[in-house]
Amino acid sequence: MNSDHNQVVRYHNYQKHYPVMAALLVIHTIAFAYMVSIASSGVSAGPVTYIFGDSMADVGNNNHFPQSLAKANYPWYGVDYSTKQPTGRFTNGRTIGDVMSARFGVPPPPPYLSLSMNDDAILEGINFASGGAGILDETGSYFVQYLSFNTQISYFEKTKEAIKFRIGEAEAEKLCNDALYLIGLGSNDYINNYLQPFMADGQEYTHDEFVMLLNATLDSQLKRLYDLGARKIVFNGIGPLGCIPSQRVKSGTGQCLHHVNEYVKEFNAQVTKLLAALNAALPGAQMVLADSYPVVMELIENPQKYGFKISNTSCCNVDSTVGGMCLPNSRLCTNRRDFVFWDAYHTSDAANEIIANKMFADLNSLTGGSPAPAPGPGLASTPHLRSAPTPAPL
Ligand SMILES: *[C@@H]1O[C@H](CO)[C@@H](O)[C@H](O)[C@H]1NC(C)=O
Ligand SMILES: *[C@@H]1O[C@H](CO)[C@@H](O)[C@H](O)[C@H]1NC(C)=O
Repeated sequence: MNSDHNQVVRYHNYQKHYPVMAALLVIHTIAFAYMVSIASSGVSAGPVTYIFGDSMADVGNNNHFPQSLAKANYPWYGVDYSTKQPTGRFTNGRTIGDVMSARFGVPPPPPYLSLSMNDDAILEGINFASGGAGILDETGSYFVQYLSFNTQISYFEKTKEAIKFRIGEAEAEKLCNDALYLIGLGSNDYINNYLQPFMADGQEYTHDEFVMLLNATLDSQLKRLYDLGARKIVFNGIGPLGCIPSQRVKSGTGQCLHHVNEYVKEFNAQVTKLLAALNAALPGAQMVLADSYPVVMELIENPQKYGFKISNTSCCNVDSTVGGMCLPNSRLCTNRRDFVFWDAYHTSDAANEIIANKMFADLNSLTGGSPAPAPGPGLASTPHLRSAPTPAPL
């Protein structure tokens, strides 16, 4: 990957003005290099991807927790999925990651909790994402059962031990060095922590202090992943949380919460600095921010341009309900294709398709076609949890 270092540095400069495109370019570079290494080793058909995240990326981990309050394995979730069944995905159909994986011709990695350490899947990619998770351990605590980011990393550590046992230490190290790590976290640290009056962090810290805490915590978590062999890391920045339906209702007038969007932009800016510092300090590290904020904001501000009719309320009409989830007794909108938001926190299948395709197209036009594979979780990270002491996981 050394030969790509200059390119990555160039993209970092470019990124000052075109964060999304720059992120895509870096993703492309990383994925391309990965494919070259795969092609020469002839081992597997697609990039090995390990996914860490929250409800935007969860594909069924929380279904394994009887007591979890952050679950989506009931109607109407999955109503537009290929099987028409709930899967644990927090949307009516595909996640952004599902769409990206399909475009790249690889299946979405399976949920960690569905696997045994004897499965070949551990060598091919795993999804550790869990609805309710945040960067901080205390985030999501009221969902009772879920995998915090630190726990997700610990499960990756166990996975690596199993990989070593299967293919030997040197091969395991190479597999981990070559894999892609896609991380989408942070939304719940706001929606289900800092912005919740009953959680301590919001009382204890100013926003500047809170960002420092998130930044320092993420710093140690990314170093932990690096020590476990991770090199190519894509961190999905937080989307415009102030504009998700559960936040708009708090304005009283249906407007986006400006201060929440400002918080999120500040977080994304600090993480960009953090990733640059880690790349400079850790040999071989290639960590980038995929800034989904402008992509999702564009959809919210110009829904008609993309075939939507409504971006300021949810299809399930649950914006102000406790939990904000689409429940079996919810009345769905007439045309689910018309809505950017499925429930009070999560984007719809149709929106996820557009967001994923938009990122794919940007990538295509910048590379003159034939984008390299870079599957994954949500490259855009948007909505998440709830608003009262009751659960609604992001
Ligand atoms: C986040 O970490 C980076 C790298 O250490 C640093 O440059 C930046 O100032 C930090 N931001 C905050 C708010 O602590
Ligand atoms: C959404 O926007 C439309 C058009 O501006 C407006 O009529 C409607 O009241 C808004 N809905 C909500 C829930 O704010």
